[in-house]
Amino acid sequence: MRRREFMGAGLLAASLAGLSKASYPLTLRPLTDYPDEPGTLASRAAARGLLFGTAVKSATLQTDPRYAALVAQQAGVLVAEYEMKWDVIAAQPDRYDFAPGDAILAFARKNGQRMRGHTLCWYAVNPAWVEQKMRDPSIDRATKAKLLTGYIDTVARRYSGKMIHWDVVNEPIDPSEGRPDGMRVKNIWSEALGETYIDMAFHAAREADPHAVLYLNEFGIESDIPWNEAKRTALLKLLDRLKGRGVPIQGLGIQSHLQPYKARFDERIFRDFLEKVTGYGLKLSVTELDLSDRALTKDSNEPEPARRDNQVAAVAKAFLDVALSFKQTEAVLCWGLSDKYSWLSSRWAKDRWPEGSFARGLPYTSDLREKKLYRAIGAAFDAAPDRSMIV
Ligand code: G3I
Repeated sequence: MRRREFMGAGLLAASLAGLSKASYPLTLRPLTDYPDEPGTLASRAAARGLLFGTAVKSATLQTDPRYAALVAQQAGVLVAEYEMKWDVIAAQPDRYDFAPGDAILAFARKNGQRMRGHTLCWYAVNPAWVEQKMRDPSIDRATKAKLLTGYIDTVARRYSGKMIHWDVVNEPIDPSEGRPDGMRVKNIWSEALGETYIDMAFHAAREADPHAVLYLNEFGIESDIPWNEAKRTALLKLLDRLKGRGVPIQGLGIQSHLQPYKARFDERIFRDFLEKVTGYGLKLSVTELDLSDRALTKDSNEPEPARRDNQVAAVAKAFLDVALSFKQTEAVLCWGLSDKYSWLSSRWAKDRWPEGSFARGLPYTSDLREKKLYRAIGAAFDAAPDRSMIV
């Protein structure tokens, strides 16, 4: 099963587990109207010592000039949605293709934007040749470790000084695999190297790039539902082990693919979790914010777009108010700026609207008009304490 189906199916199975209309009523929140303040999301974030940005694809920047202009105007930091992953950079052995990532970096530099790297080590989207080598019993462990660390060294060294962050390891937790430690082990890295693949990846990234803040990036750690709680518990235990082993992890990326119609957001639970994470001395970033506006219940009164927009905005504001109250929070990135290009509307997402309309989980509509979510994100930045003023 390819990554995206797995991701969708895993989410679907996990979020349906025990889900019933009675158990998770919609996270209905008071509907406020957010003032339409001057400035861009980037400038309003910067006024508080924060970065705002978005994931991008180089092809979209090249083929949609209106969207490219919006990205240039509103974002202070970019991340490659898929073009700096192993299956693009090293689709074939001994051949590297940095051109797509470089195109995004060139766009960022032309527009005075920063860039975060995503991602050096993931259980998913590894080329077939890597999977074959990592599963080959005739290849020894040291050689397999070198395959991982050699790739990380090549990529991180090449971009050294150009990335403010690296997502060194992406999504190492999966309690649905049933292990007591909640780790995701059914993958080539863990099967060949054990949990120390994480240590190896971070040490290799640190050695190759002394500048970037090194992040571990994870999804499903934001909401008040059982499988998110299990992930938070497992993640805190992992952080404890990594810190105990002297692994140079510096930040936690909170992917923030929120699902307000399926998973209640509870400020206290999320705040308590972030208190524990920052207790390990880690920085924080919201790395892939979007909000699925579709419930899986076949409820006939699925709200019309305006009501969906209101609820999405209200949950986003509540979520960001907690995240931005931490001085350790560096950046907020959306996983795209417009519904037109959201993965939520792709054929892989389990939350797409069947009639083919777009999920409305990003700050701009599919025809690039600001939504209430845009104003909610702006209001969260305006309300955020200035980093330099938080003791
Ligand atoms: O652009 C090519 C196209 O030219 C080609 O014909 C086609 C053939 O399959 O592939 C297209 O590239 C696809 C790309 O998305 C652009 O649509 C890749 O195959 C596909 O693998 C890629 O999927 C990305 C996925 O990560 C895997 O890299 C999604 O866009 C991206 O939204 C998703 O992002 C992940 C984060 O990295 C981690 N967190 C979850 C998030 C959503 O799943």
